[in-house]
Amino acid sequence: MLYLKNLNYHPTASPTAILKSINLQLAPQKLGLIIGPSGSGKSTLLEILSGLAEPTSGSLFWREQELIPEQLQQLAGLVFQFPERHFCGGTILEELRLGHPELGSQRVKQALSEVGLEHLSLSTAPHALSGGQQRRLALAVQLIRQPNILLLDEPTAGLDWSMRRQLVNLLAKLKQHWTLLVVTHDAGDMLAIADCCWTLNHGELQSVDPEMLAAKVKEPQAAV
Ligand SMILES: Nc1ncnc2c1ncn2[C@@H]1O[C@H](COP(=O)(O)OP(=O)(O)OP(=O)(O)O)[C@@H](O)[C@H]1O
Ligand SMILES: [Mg+2]
Repeated sequence: MLYLKNLNYHPTASPTAILKSINLQLAPQKLGLIIGPSGSGKSTLLEILSGLAEPTSGSLFWREQELIPEQLQQLAGLVFQFPERHFCGGTILEELRLGHPELGSQRVKQALSEVGLEHLSLSTAPHALSGGQQRRLALAVQLIRQPNILLLDEPTAGLDWSMRRQLVNLLAKLKQHWTLLVVTHDAGDMLAIADCCWTLNHGELQSVDPEMLAAKVKEPQAAV
């Protein structure tokens, strides 16, 4: 169980707080979805959850234990927006083993099969993969570390309709084993597989019922 209590983030460079008294709970093997417009603080929240930034105040717990950023870096796996832009391995194998050369071929195979890429040769260059396959590889790069929570920043951005659908199906499968938190500005893709949902506006998080939101999204020109 991930638990955020009254979390605030107000870096000195910013005139206002970027995240304001965030309270959030996410149970294991659930998919949480945070929907917010550009600049609302989505990526900043994921940076804090992955230990890349430190909150100004408030607490973060995993189970009953309060965590510091170094522990979060171990616990969380963050998949950036457009993760393929950050690939730096020359082959799939190199990409998966970056930072963990000790990982055996069994772990490599397992990570690839979790994302449906087990049929690919390990010597394939990441940049030679299709857009959808690159996104899957980026997920495998995090899953191979076996994180307690997988954080995804706009996972379907820039994909065509059919690749988006495939990725959503994959995330639905992954939540059987993993805990996922997804942030997006576009509610449409992921609502059907979300177990819990929040909106984020100007750094304020509000819980919403995914089914109610799904009904709203279906209405023509509905504002979310
Ligand atoms: N370290 C910082 N110092 C000052 N301002 C910051 C800092 N980090 C983020 N911001 C500001 O915080 C706000 C939220 O940024 P963030 O990138 O989290 O938004 P977002 O919801 O991910 O937007 P997008 O959908 O465009 O990716 C922005 O106004 C940004 O300029
Ligand atoms: Mg962002």
